[in-house]
Amino acid sequence: MSRQEVDQLNEIERMDKEHVFGTWSYQSEVSPTQVVGSDGMRFSDAHGNEFIDFSGQLMCSNLGHSAEKVSDAIAEQAAKGAYFAPGFTTEVRAKLGQKLAEVTPGDLTKTFFSTSGTEAIEAAIKIAKFYTGKDKVVSRYRSYHGATYGSISVTGDPRRLAAEPGIPGAIKAPDPYAYGSTLDPMESLEYIDEMLMLEGDTVAAVLVEPIVGSNGILVPPAEYLPRLKEIAHNHGALLICDEVMAGFGRTGEWFGCDIFDVEPDIMTMAKGLTGAYQPLGATIVNSEIAAHFEDNMLTHGHTYAGHPVACAAGLATIETYQEGNLIKHAGEVGEYLGERIEELAAAHPSVGDTRGVGLFRGIELTKSSEERMPFGERSDKLAKGSTVVDQVAGMAYENGAYVANMINTLIVAPPLTITPDEIDEAIAALDVALKVSDDAMVD
Ligand SMILES: Cc1ncc(COP(=O)(O)O)c(C=O)c1O
Repeated sequence: MSRQEVDQLNEIERMDKEHVFGTWSYQSEVSPTQVVGSDGMRFSDAHGNEFIDFSGQLMCSNLGHSAEKVSDAIAEQAAKGAYFAPGFTTEVRAKLGQKLAEVTPGDLTKTFFSTSGTEAIEAAIKIAKFYTGKDKVVSRYRSYHGATYGSISVTGDPRRLAAEPGIPGAIKAPDPYAYGSTLDPMESLEYIDEMLMLEGDTVAAVLVEPIVGSNGILVPPAEYLPRLKEIAHNHGALLICDEVMAGFGRTGEWFGCDIFDVEPDIMTMAKGLTGAYQPLGATIVNSEIAAHFEDNMLTHGHTYAGHPVACAAGLATIETYQEGNLIKHAGEVGEYLGERIEELAAAHPSVGDTRGVGLFRGIELTKSSEERMPFGERSDKLAKGSTVVDQVAGMAYENGAYVANMINTLIVAPPLTITPDEIDEAIAALDVALKVSDDAMVD
């Protein structure tokens, strides 16, 4: 950062910059903005600006910023008993376990609680290995599953490269990415079938995000996930669905896999599980896997497994989804969001592709619509400086809408409580911002 930019930081921001690491960043480029408040769909900074939260922060604030039932439940549980060791149970932990068995598909029944999506994946990998007695996990290149050694090893996006070679047995497969891949989505699936055949009977699980999140909001064809489950099972592997981002109503269904009517063997959750009011991860397994651990040790645990305050938040969050009919609302208002995004695509030549379902939408940009040339390459994720896609998000922010972006795609994932008027407001900011990419096109 230049001296001038540092001078623009306030005291809190300067203190933070000096003493706190920014995530996934060259620290010289980190410029923390102090946020001071939030209300409903909006948050405000210490410089007097207010923003509509069009990505629910990191695609996790599913209830917006004023979910009183959840904050009350947190305060109540903190006063009653902030922490007990995992060997004890609490009413909120037991009820949340039961609730997850109720809202997740089919026979998924027993949960291991942790504190993040990353840890939910770590537990899923270990459980799959313990249960099957096999070591390998097949996941896909355009995926993000977490930051710790196991979860980054099964992640496909460029963030994994710095951690490689990572854990043994993490094998990558191609993705259902019709816009940008040379493989047709269903062909990519048959490629996975071939991979599993060639690996022999050594793969514990196939791990996928049913709808890929930060790697571009990739929605596979309807037949993809059912066939993937069939392929995995034919080769003696489990299907793990990572619902950390797609779960809890974002797609207009409880979980991304519900859209495809597929019940995974193991499912991971976090983010929307508490609407980000508390850090909580969860790994739920079917009854057969659960039964395996009756007489085989579950060699896994954390100090904060089943943390009472986090579980209280989770329970209150799910009740809020149910009482407010928010999953259905997300589907309905998500249709409107989709229509408004299509209007943006029609008006802006730099919008190469739009994808998504419900309130889970991606806008992929291009500098040449003819050749589908991206503004942001995968390698840019690890490079210094900003891309045109970053600049588009920056311009939306200047115009009052916070929109996340990754590599070459803007990620729209607002709280499920958003209204059509609020969608219009954020779309207006994006409309201005997309002129930046239109102007940067090569054709
Ligand atoms: C699909 C998916 N899985 C796992 C993770 C890791 O979750 P966390 O950042 O809570 O550790 C993320 C985070 O964005 C995610 O999107």
